[in-house]
Amino acid sequence: MTPAVSVSDLRKTYKTGTVALRGVSLEVAQGDFFALLGPNGAGKTTIIGILCGLTVKTGGEAKIFDASIDTDPVKAKSYIGLVPQEFNINIFEKVIDIIVDQAGFYGIPRAEAIKKAEPILKDLGLWEKRNEPSQQLSGGMKRRLMIARALIHKPQLLILDEPTAGVDVELRRSMWGFLRKMNAEGTTIILTTHYLEEAEQLCRTVAVINKGEIVLSEPMTTLLQRYGGEEKLEDIYLGLIGAEKEEVKTA
Ligand SMILES: Nc1ncnc2c1ncn2[C@@H]1O[C@H](COP(=O)(O)OP(=O)(O)OP(=O)(O)O)[C@@H](O)[C@H]1O
Ligand SMILES: [Mg+2]
Repeated sequence: MTPAVSVSDLRKTYKTGTVALRGVSLEVAQGDFFALLGPNGAGKTTIIGILCGLTVKTGGEAKIFDASIDTDPVKAKSYIGLVPQEFNINIFEKVIDIIVDQAGFYGIPRAEAIKKAEPILKDLGLWEKRNEPSQQLSGGMKRRLMIARALIHKPQLLILDEPTAGVDVELRRSMWGFLRKMNAEGTTIILTTHYLEEAEQLCRTVAVINKGEIVLSEPMTTLLQRYGGEEKLEDIYLGLIGAEKEEVKTA
């Protein structure tokens, strides 16, 4: 089966001279729930930006299902729903209009978009807020709004860049349930998070990136078993990249 994402020797040097990606190769299988982990500045958002056509790569190749991001960028983008790390919603626009406008980018007419938006907004607990400008939402509600917006065109691949940052425990759990349901229904999911427990709970495959290089990429169970099945993902992760961080902190 064609992978949902295949990335080969991806490189990115920003104009500032920062080398963000040093030859990243990755494959995400269709239907997978994939964790992309790594410390601040490792290159996670850069990879996501390149996959979504928001960041221009310096080298390498990437395909979303059958579509190359170079030769078939529109098709590649059409497969993806992105929940970005930073809020990028118009604070003056009403919740329902944010969703409907997004649907418009994919050629979905307004009336149809409202119909499609209803179950999504209800599932995410935002239906009652549909006529409020997004600035009146709490931080957690804004996060859910960005998820709703990403889902309106029924993407086959959902990419979430730290979707639960600043989200309370209860809401985080309900978001996990929602994402599990999406995944069970066939949506491939890529998740970045700094909550290692979250990745351990949700994801079947885990990749760790550090300083623009992939340190590992394997099934979650294989990784946990290799460490005897008793260590938590967080301890394994810290063992992989934490020692170096500690040096930085105490230097
Ligand atoms: N627009 C930009 N211009 C210049 N450098 C950038 C830009 N965006 C990111 N970088 C740099 O590229 C590197 C990778 O950043 P990136 O945002 O991909 O990291 P990340 O893994 O998503 O980190 P975080 O966990 O903090 O979100 C960092 O050194 C960062 O400073
Ligand atoms: Mg990031």
